[in-house]
Amino acid sequence: MAVAAEHIRTLNKYERAILAALERWMKQYAWVPLDQIKQTTELSESEVNYRLSRLIRWGMVRFNPVPYDGYALVFGGYDTLALASLSKKGTISALGTMIGEGKESVVYEALGLGPVAIKFHRVGGRSFSSARLNRDYIPDVGHCPWLVASRKSAEREYEALSLLHPRVSVPLPIDQNRHTVVMALINGANLNRCALEAPGEVLDEILVQLGEAYRAGVIHSDLSEYNIMMEDDRVVIIDWPQWIGADHPNAAATLERDVGNIVTYFNRKYLLRRDQKDALRCVTG
Ligand SMILES: Nc1ncnc2c1ncn2[C@@H]1O[C@H](COP(=O)(O)OP(=O)(O)OP(=O)(O)O)[C@@H](O)[C@H]1O
Ligand SMILES: [Mg+2]
Repeated sequence: MAVAAEHIRTLNKYERAILAALERWMKQYAWVPLDQIKQTTELSESEVNYRLSRLIRWGMVRFNPVPYDGYALVFGGYDTLALASLSKKGTISALGTMIGEGKESVVYEALGLGPVAIKFHRVGGRSFSSARLNRDYIPDVGHCPWLVASRKSAEREYEALSLLHPRVSVPLPIDQNRHTVVMALINGANLNRCALEAPGEVLDEILVQLGEAYRAGVIHSDLSEYNIMMEDDRVVIIDWPQWIGADHPNAAATLERDVGNIVTYFNRKYLLRRDQKDALRCVTG
């Protein structure tokens, strides 16, 4: 689900005001009534209808006629609001191409003070269209699960990067807005796409980084060869929204799983014979 990037530049102030009004009212409605949008934006009904039709066409808003005419923000609209805020603050001046797409996010290259990466969290996104049909999932009154969950996920990731950088080799956190995290762009490839010349040394380095994170009170929780990047010879650990604290009741089991995933990967791909228990001992010290 890409960002509606090409339409963001053509958005006018009425359309931005409607997106902001929808964001505000989605704390109370799953589908915001037209009257509420009219009142908040102080625009005429014909203006609101025209602007809404454009936002719907651009994939920023959805319409639902039952039991009343209601409108809801979708990821495209939320992306636009975040980008507008980040560009107003000067964090980002241009959006580049998509450089990554995971289960629960899409990552773009962007221009800030230098090249940066912007990660749009998409938690609950895939289930949103079916959730639209199954009306219990998104309550008529109350919160909006995908919006809240995606924002929380971005906030959590930013928190981890802030706790860890520069002690642990993670992308430098630059800014955070709504469901997005802006961070340093890593010029490299995911570990699963690398053919390492000195795999044993890289594995050792990963264990050192995990140990530093652990002593900083953070356990990754979703560690695999897909969430480690190689920037030249440097290991960079990415994708931190699921982290837990080292004092969490599941800390020991989670750390063991993280370390196990990595050791198993290296043993299998590079035919190493590293012992998982020894590796775990390297991390916990
Ligand atoms: N700072 C960055 N610089 C360069 N590329 C990045 C950066 N952050 C992420 N990427 C690329 O985008 C991809 C997806 O990012 P990430 O792993 O953080 O999210 P995700 O995989 O969607 O999360 P999940 O594991 O929940 O599915 C990464 O595998 C990586 O290739
Ligand atoms: Mg990932």
